[in-house]
Amino acid sequence: MKAAILIGGQGTRLRPFTLDAPKPLLPVLNRPFLEYQFQVLRKSGVREVALCTSYRALDFRRAFGDGRRLGLRLRYVRETMPLGTGGAAKNAENLLLGGTSLILNGDVLNAFDVRAFLSFHRARRAEISIALTRVKDPTAYGLVLTDAKGLVRRFLEKPSWDEVETNTINAGAYLFEPSVFSHIPAGKTYSLERGLFPERLAAGAVLAGWVAPGYWIDIGTVDKYLQVHLDILGGRTPFKPGAGVRALKGFEGAIVAAGAGAHVAEFARFSGAVSLGRGARVGRGAQLSDCVVLDGAVVGDGARLERCVVGARARVGTHATLGPGTALAGGSRVGDYSQL
Ligand code: GDD
Ligand code: MG
Repeated sequence: MKAAILIGGQGTRLRPFTLDAPKPLLPVLNRPFLEYQFQVLRKSGVREVALCTSYRALDFRRAFGDGRRLGLRLRYVRETMPLGTGGAAKNAENLLLGGTSLILNGDVLNAFDVRAFLSFHRARRAEISIALTRVKDPTAYGLVLTDAKGLVRRFLEKPSWDEVETNTINAGAYLFEPSVFSHIPAGKTYSLERGLFPERLAAGAVLAGWVAPGYWIDIGTVDKYLQVHLDILGGRTPFKPGAGVRALKGFEGAIVAAGAGAHVAEFARFSGAVSLGRGARVGRGAQLSDCVVLDGAVVGDGARLERCVVGARARVGTHATLGPGTALAGGSRVGDYSQL
């Protein structure tokens, strides 16, 4: 089976980090995020993957090339104007010929079994199958209501709280029969979630919803981008950090992962899980709890950081305090004794 991954979004909710790199290329424990999703595809026997790019399109080609190094055959489709999730999928149609295809959002990590998804899809004889997951707050996602047989009754993108009638949401992975593409307009901005799915339901087509077991996250906000690091380090996913990441020992129950050349000065203290990028430096007596410090960033002596992401090559002054949710842009400076 062939796959297409939608990776053309601007990642506005993940600024400032997505000003320097597109969301699917942001590093997660020393490898671009999308490589984890590639791993899932490879494991399921998917080799041919179309990448539907728009924002910072060339960055992807530079990072992955033809995919041989990753055990995949990658092809690139580029929209000069972002065409939405539907327009992007339609553009990949020519690369997906020859059977059922898998379409994925590029900012989700889903440890699911594509083969099990496909058998479900075939058993329901569906035109479209949507992988589902359960979340506490469905308002940030596409709500999917199914019946007892697993057929989709309603698809509602970003519902308001009074419209929430279930906790199952679109996990951002679909199986499409080839006929689906004839219902997507070409060369036009169009949304799968607001256009295709509700329209095909209204037309009486068979859409099936498969609850995907296992770990799932959408890394689209700073909080979730931090969370995926904590989940991998905490062993709550089947994924492992990238090559060259070592575990630093001796921090009383804290999990500390360090990229090549990362340095921790004496009396530094850690709690929860902390990821230090390549060449990152943590000063004397600094205290970090559940943080991500990207490549080459420097945390000054005595600084205190909790649930923050420090961008690549940023500098946190000595004794500065960064509170939960702080997202420090790459290359930025925080003065000594500042409180953020
Ligand atoms: N090529 C291309 N062109 N890709 C796009 C475009 C576009 O115009 N717009 C968005 N994408 C890509 C993004 O890069 C991302 O990988 C994916 O499509 C989904 O876009 P998001 O902007 O992250 O959407 P969302 O998170 O608000 O909602 C979507 O994902 C949820 C699950 O995480 C929807 O599909 C929801 O229904 C779903 O629940
Ligand atoms: Mg998203």
